[in-house]
Amino acid sequence: MSSQGAEATREWQDREFAQRWVAADHFEGLLGLPRRIAAAIVSADRPDSTLILDVASGPGAFLTAMLDELPTATGIWSDTSTAMADEARVRLAAFAGRVEFKEVDMTDLPAAGLPSGIDAIVTSRAAHHLERAELGRFYAQAKEILAPGGWLVNLDHIGPVEVWDRRLRAVRSRFVPSGAEGPKHHHNYPLTSVSDHLDAYAEAGIDDVEVVWRGFYTCLFMGRKADS
Ligand SMILES: C[S@@+](CC[C@H](N)C(=O)[O-])C[C@H]1O[C@@H](n2cnc3c(N)ncnc32)[C@H](O)[C@@H]1O
Repeated sequence: MSSQGAEATREWQDREFAQRWVAADHFEGLLGLPRRIAAAIVSADRPDSTLILDVASGPGAFLTAMLDELPTATGIWSDTSTAMADEARVRLAAFAGRVEFKEVDMTDLPAAGLPSGIDAIVTSRAAHHLERAELGRFYAQAKEILAPGGWLVNLDHIGPVEVWDRRLRAVRSRFVPSGAEGPKHHHNYPLTSVSDHLDAYAEAGIDDVEVVWRGFYTCLFMGRKADS
């Protein structure tokens, strides 16, 4: 893992920081729509899905949206933070018996001993901590454990080109309250761009990809692995 990635991971281990972040995360409500859209698209394509993996799941909102939409699926909650695991155990209590909790470092998926044949791998607001090369590795490693026709879904913050950064920044506070995403935490700047993500999907061998939703700096990327 890069030193930036290690720094990003380290601060989430701090129980007090993780709890403050979860309590102050008013952005979460805004992301309900893209999470539900992603779940609906996966469900329409793979209604009998049996296994969903949420990477860097935190409190578990993306896994919740997926399990709500896919009644036959079980889920793997994964993260490196034990503080987040405690939060998620409470929030995912309604899915008791359908969720396995697993410590997984998103920069080294093969080391986690994850099963293959997964119907959808989802992640949100975490991959922007990765540098471009790490993002490429993450997508490639995720693709390896997806079922043919499985989905790799990333709801993530991106870095636009400078002129668009200025335009978006100038008006964003009218729509998204500042500080909506909890206490400040470490980020790698510049963040990877939309093209970085699309290129990284393509390099991983997933070329059926779309930016399904976007709000300011946050994009829902959905890529479907080929059937064979
Ligand atoms: C901003 S929170 C997002 C949580 C959740 N996905 C959401 O959108 O509500 C970032 C999460 O990434 C996790 N994380 C950071 N580095 C990680 C890594 N290398 N592997 C797995 N999880 C990591 C943190 O522990 C934290 O739960």
